[in-house]
Amino acid sequence: MATATATATTTNITFHPGSRLIMICQSQRKGGPLATKGITIWLTGLSASGKSTIACALEQHLLHLRKFSYRLDGDNIRFGLNKDLGFDEKSRNENIRRIGEVSRLFTDAACITLTAFISPYRADRALARKIHEEAGLNFVEVFVDAPLEVVEQRDPKGLYKRARAGEIKEFTGISAPYEPPLDPELHIKTAECDVKEAVRIITDYLLEKGYIS
Ligand SMILES: Nc1ncnc2c1ncn2[C@@H]1O[C@H](COP(=O)(O)OP(=O)(O)O)[C@@H](O)[C@H]1O
Ligand SMILES: [Mg+2]
Repeated sequence: MATATATATTTNITFHPGSRLIMICQSQRKGGPLATKGITIWLTGLSASGKSTIACALEQHLLHLRKFSYRLDGDNIRFGLNKDLGFDEKSRNENIRRIGEVSRLFTDAACITLTAFISPYRADRALARKIHEEAGLNFVEVFVDAPLEVVEQRDPKGLYKRARAGEIKEFTGISAPYEPPLDPELHIKTAECDVKEAVRIITDYLLEKGYIS
C-alpha cells in the first residue's frame, strides 16, 4: 500500500490510504484488465544518448504486447508540468523530484512507466528510487550510455553545437555535470547496439524478473 514518502511542508494534511494493490491482485487472479503490478523504468543518460528514441520504441512494443504503458519524456514534460523550471542545478533537482513523484503515481496505477530524462545527478535518481521503494513499487534504472563524441556527432537537435558556441548555458556534458550510474540494473551502450536491440534487452529483463509475462 502506498504511503506518504516525504515530509510534507503543508500542515493539516493526512495521507489517505486505499486498497488498490489488493484489488489489482484480485483482478489479476480473475484475468481482469489490471494484470500488472506496475514498474518504473527510469532511463538516464546524456542528451542524444537515445532515451526518447528507446522509450518510444519500448512503449510501442509493450502496447503491442497489450501491456499498460505510458511514457514521461523530459522535453514533453517541460511544455506543461515543469514549464516553470530551468536547467540550473536546483531546477534540475526539482524537475527530477517531480518526475519521481509522478512516475510513482503512474506505477501505483499498475502502469509500466517509462521515464526519459537526462537526470544527471545521482542523488536525484536515488531519491526517485527511494520514493518508489518506500511505496513498495518496482523501479529499474537503465543507463542509456553513449560517449560524448558520439552524442555530439549525432546532435539531432543541434544543441551540442549551440552549447559549444556558448549559446546554451549549463548544458549536460559540456558545461554541466553528468554523474553516470554506479550500479544500474541495465547498462545499454547505444553506440554498440541499435534501438531494436535496446528494446529487446529491456523486455528480456522484464520477462526474466517476472515484471511482465
Ligand atoms: N542505438 C541507438 N539508440 C537510440 N538512439 C540512437 C541509436 N543510434 C542512433 N540513435 C539516434 O540518436 C538520437 C537520439 O536522440 P534522442 O532519442 O532524442 O536522445 P535523448 O532523448 O537521449 O536526448 C536519435 O537521432 C536516434 O535516431
Ligand atoms: Mg529525449
